[in-house]
Amino acid sequence: MFPPGFAWGAATSAYQIEGGWQADSKGPSIWDTFCREKGRVFDDQNGDFACNSYELWEKDLECIQQLGLTHYRLSLSWARLLPDGTTQHVNKRGVQYYNKVIDDLLACDVLPMVTLYHFDLPQALQDRGGWTSPDIAILFDKYANFCFQTFGDRVKLWITINEPYVCAKLGHEDGIHAPGLKEKGTAPYVVGHNMLRAHAMAWHSYSSVYREKQGGAVSLAINSDWFEPLDPGCDEDIAAAARALAFTLGWFAWPVFVTGDYPEVMKSAIDAQSEKLGYRGTSRLPRFSEDEPTILGTADFFALNYYTSRKVKPRGGCEKTLSTKSDQDTEEVVDPSWPISGLSWLAVVPDGLRKLLKYIKDTLSSPAVYITENGFSQVGPLQMKDVHRCEFYKSTISELSKAVQEDGVDVRGYFAWSLMDNFEWADGFSVRFGLFHVDFSHAELNRNIYQSGQEYANIISKYKSDQRKSEQLSKSNVDC
Ligand code: BGC
Repeated sequence: MFPPGFAWGAATSAYQIEGGWQADSKGPSIWDTFCREKGRVFDDQNGDFACNSYELWEKDLECIQQLGLTHYRLSLSWARLLPDGTTQHVNKRGVQYYNKVIDDLLACDVLPMVTLYHFDLPQALQDRGGWTSPDIAILFDKYANFCFQTFGDRVKLWITINEPYVCAKLGHEDGIHAPGLKEKGTAPYVVGHNMLRAHAMAWHSYSSVYREKQGGAVSLAINSDWFEPLDPGCDEDIAAAARALAFTLGWFAWPVFVTGDYPEVMKSAIDAQSEKLGYRGTSRLPRFSEDEPTILGTADFFALNYYTSRKVKPRGGCEKTLSTKSDQDTEEVVDPSWPISGLSWLAVVPDGLRKLLKYIKDTLSSPAVYITENGFSQVGPLQMKDVHRCEFYKSTISELSKAVQEDGVDVRGYFAWSLMDNFEWADGFSVRFGLFHVDFSHAELNRNIYQSGQEYANIISKYKSDQRKSEQLSKSNVDC
């Protein structure tokens, strides 16, 4: 049910799995700092050791092979490669580590998809203002150039920034992700803006310097829930669902795929709320400058991280303080019929993925799409026979195949989150997203496949054997 060459992957990120937080001259990142502040993370845990993939990479590779993955999505730790965030100091051991990972993957016929930034800014750059400073875009571009130059002969799929929405909102408004800022209604828009500028600069660098020789593709990973009106017959609910989509997917997708600018509904809602709350000064949503590289068209494919869905109605303008939520003016509810995975926010809605993909196709001119993350969490007593997660993967992949076959969405690949249990940000190790269980109670950190991992491996193996059969069939037709 999936096209030839479909990418079957799993994803991880550097801070969540690597450990080795000070190994071989790695610099500190904002997550190293954040985790040291009491009360930030569940049980004051941290990613100092995590899955220790820095030393146990071969174990990860075994898991990748056991699943039969065709692709593996990993992220590079900026502070491991460039300890102070700048290209003035390159950490050769960090380069060696990622060279080995990439070479090992290719030797096993697994293609890497590499994310340059997955939440872990070098602390040295945070000390210079981090993502709120306009200078960060140039520093990111230099880092991206360094990575394209160093690894681009072998890496052909790049993600510049993972989930700018999450960095902007959870890190700079809610304060529940590093760097833990709570500058409501202002910093998130500045951070999002600088992330878009940084992404666009890196994409332009790739296009002008590396693309011809390396022949790869570059995008940014945009996360979005699927939002639909609570009452599909109510105009206010329809408008609220459209606003929710504009403030999540649209915030980053409109500038890159549609107009080069933020969605109109987002701009007008922010301005109206500023006026209502007596906010003086220029708009809280920065404007793109014509003197800088254009944002429109800076993605070679759409990279979607999808986890859940919501039903939406208006909040009724009752918020009295500035925040992205009050600008958005929506109330989001979970349909009682949707099962909940381990986490309260993670309602399981596989057909929401299909609907979101159709929306992306219809509104963003049918881009090629990779699902760069999608997963199901386990909390509480350990279940190696994780039947609910098995069901989740089966029904999600079935919805995905309908998106391809029936809706004509150009889906090129699917990456499960995550290869193995890891450090789940503010939830520490209390939440398990892995296809492999990691035994964090023993120094060996053994990885063991969950039933859902086996289920996923079976799906991939079936796909591969169907592909072989159809290749043989078309070959014998040609021979005839
Ligand atoms: C992030 C991952 C995270 C996952 C589950 C995504 O937002 O990219 O790093 O572990 O969601 O919460």
